[in-house]
Amino acid sequence: MSETPAPADDPRPMRAVRHVMSVVGARPNFMKTAPVIAALARRPDPVRHTLVHTGQHYDAAMSRVFLDELGVGEPNHMLDVGSGRHGAQTARVMERIEPILERERPDVLLVPGDVNSTVAAALVASKLDIPVAHIEAGLRSYDRSMPEEINRILTDQISSLLFTHSPEARRNLLREGVAGDRIHAIGNTMIDTLVAMRGRIRGLDAAAAHGLTPGAYLVVTLHRPALVDGPLLGAAVAALDGVAAEIPVVFPIHPRTASAMERRGLAFSAPGMRLIEPLGYLEFLSLLETAAGALTDSGGIQEEATYLGIPCFTLRDNTERPVTCELGTNVLLGLAPERIAEVPGLIEAARDRPATVPPGWDGAAAERLVDVLEAGVPEWEPPPAPDERAAGADGAGTARFAADVVRRL
Ligand code: UD1
Repeated sequence: MSETPAPADDPRPMRAVRHVMSVVGARPNFMKTAPVIAALARRPDPVRHTLVHTGQHYDAAMSRVFLDELGVGEPNHMLDVGSGRHGAQTARVMERIEPILERERPDVLLVPGDVNSTVAAALVASKLDIPVAHIEAGLRSYDRSMPEEINRILTDQISSLLFTHSPEARRNLLREGVAGDRIHAIGNTMIDTLVAMRGRIRGLDAAAAHGLTPGAYLVVTLHRPALVDGPLLGAAVAALDGVAAEIPVVFPIHPRTASAMERRGLAFSAPGMRLIEPLGYLEFLSLLETAAGALTDSGGIQEEATYLGIPCFTLRDNTERPVTCELGTNVLLGLAPERIAEVPGLIEAARDRPATVPPGWDGAAAERLVDVLEAGVPEWEPPPAPDERAAGADGAGTARFAADVVRRL
């Protein structure tokens, strides 16, 4: 690893980046990383890129189809960690990635999102003094019962570069003491994938393949433990059956949800319900693009629906993506299965609601990310001391902190 001089106004040395290693593991990671791999390869003097797949998701429908469709290529390292309890799954990623990181010593480890693979890989790299760069940094639901929230907080704390896609992400990070000059608002790399694939998505007409009329069906995805592993699943199934009597419903079911329903003897009975296997990226986005609305607890679908202008109803009490509610098409229903019955009426009401695409969700986020990487990774610097951050007693300390934040902005 070499060092390049820092710009004149920044006294810290920067590490030059000639080798980027990316880690993917679960379904939503692939779309966030694929455009970065492509953008790196497009540069006139491309750096080396190495891809590690942890194998957190391993079924063809949860993994292989995304690699193929997105043209990611074969991973250089496959860790085959598989499923397990959080501790075991996270530990397996850590144990198996450590020798790879030690051997290859990339100049930066790029991790997307908030799944167990993300935090596991970041933790190992940071202890080996390999800088971590986090795609989709700064998202917060402020709900620590979500495993992803723990993963986000920890990954951000040990990252050297934090790539954000919405204004509140920067505010969240500053509040947690992250230095402002490590935070780069590059936009949304997952939307880059959607922009790049839009032609192929439009050409698919997945609605027709499923016997659905464009503009006249609801897409459903539900997989979060808070809903499917708890007592609310039965009520959700009953409510969805009710909705399917009013409007056709297509539900590509996540394996976690399918096995929870089977364990508890739950089944749909409405003829309007099309329960199908998990879909690949292109087919799912094609179904979403011509849907009347989406009901989900996924993070990514809140964003994709906002980009496509499709009314989205989120069956959660909170979202780490408030920009999709403030600017986009998303409405939080709460973790309240009884509210599913309202969705057909809410779709009608949504027709008059103005919605826009957040800034930086434009197809060029990965290019901006690679521009930042090409400038190098800043060496680690401790955040401001707590006494300088404390408000109140020490007015001078507060003023120093405020001046520091302003300097970093
Ligand atoms: C994980 C992520 C979640 C993300 C989701 C996307 C964490 C903590 N959660 O949740 O944030 O929204 O991926 O799908 O990382 N299974 C299979 N085949 C597979 C993968 C999983 O059958 O290829 C089944 C297994 O029974 C497994 C269960 O799904 O135990 C859950 O998988 P896991 O990766 O632990 O979490 P997800 O619910 O998929």
